[in-house]
Amino acid sequence: MGSMDAFIRAVPKAELHLHIEGTLEPEMVFELARKHHLSLHYSSVEALRQAYCFADLQSFLDVYYQGASVLRDESDFHALTSAYLRRAHADGVVHAEIFFDPQTHTARGVPFEAVIGGIRSALAEGKQTLGITHRLILCFLRHLSAEDAMTTLEQALPHAGAITAVGLDSSEAGHRPAKFASVFARARSEGLLAVAHAGEEGPPEYVAEALDLLKVSRIDHGVRSEEDPALLARLVRDRVPLTVCPLSNVRLRVFDRMEDHNLKRLLHGGLCVTVNSDDPAYFGGYVAENYLAAYRALGLSRADIVQLASNSFEASFLPRGEKDAWLRRVRELDAD
Ligand code: ADE
Ligand code: ZN
Repeated sequence: MGSMDAFIRAVPKAELHLHIEGTLEPEMVFELARKHHLSLHYSSVEALRQAYCFADLQSFLDVYYQGASVLRDESDFHALTSAYLRRAHADGVVHAEIFFDPQTHTARGVPFEAVIGGIRSALAEGKQTLGITHRLILCFLRHLSAEDAMTTLEQALPHAGAITAVGLDSSEAGHRPAKFASVFARARSEGLLAVAHAGEEGPPEYVAEALDLLKVSRIDHGVRSEEDPALLARLVRDRVPLTVCPLSNVRLRVFDRMEDHNLKRLLHGGLCVTVNSDDPAYFGGYVAENYLAAYRALGLSRADIVQLASNSFEASFLPRGEKDAWLRRVRELDAD
């Protein structure tokens, strides 16, 4: 195969860290605002896109929750999810494990059923028409109370068959994983798996706490784990995957420049690192752009790209047989 750009786009990959609300492009914000007769604070799509300049996680979240307020009915969630799947397919994504934040919507009076119904019907269509397999991960907003999270979990339980795992997102600083230990215990007792954002802006202790108290299968971001050598050794030993999001980390100033990102060091240190897009409508690119940006700035090799794509399947919630089939496809494409 010719250029690395073409190889990066073509290699089969799983996306494991993707907030569906973070795929809401400015064009769709305007379209839905018009549909629902809502007024926006921005005069044009371009003006809105220009506002996507962030100092840190919180300054992004303020804009992100405001953007999500145009999502009102089931067909909006369907359109949002369908648009993501088409873009992901163009980037070589064959399996997507998608986060959704029900509290962002139920707090505005949107029924839980409208949120999950629209997402699920689009995922089913995406499997039929694009062949993309999926899992759904329900995230709790950590800036809200544990009681609010428990109420959300109870609302979700009638749909538990459609949900694979629970997750934890939103403002990390000051909202340690321990706050949600009993909610996660309840979710696990209902047969759900667990993941959590940790070590994005928060300290390495939050990563250890997510493992110890929430019993997560993987860590979302986790890049600050590098500050604690004992924690790093544990992540390597226990093969705990990190779902790293390079463009997000630079846009939210976790690293000043892509050249400073620690993805390559973590990968070469033996961690199961994966590459993901987080909130691609806000951070300047979908998953292939994240691979490309890391490849260019860090001088990744073709073997590194193959390892990252392989890790994405290894770290997924797919059954062993499906993981192995995709790992073979990655190796075959590499040999072409
Ligand atoms: N919600 C959406 N994107 C997020 C991120 N990068 N960190 C925490 N919460 C989020
Ligand atoms: Zn995230």
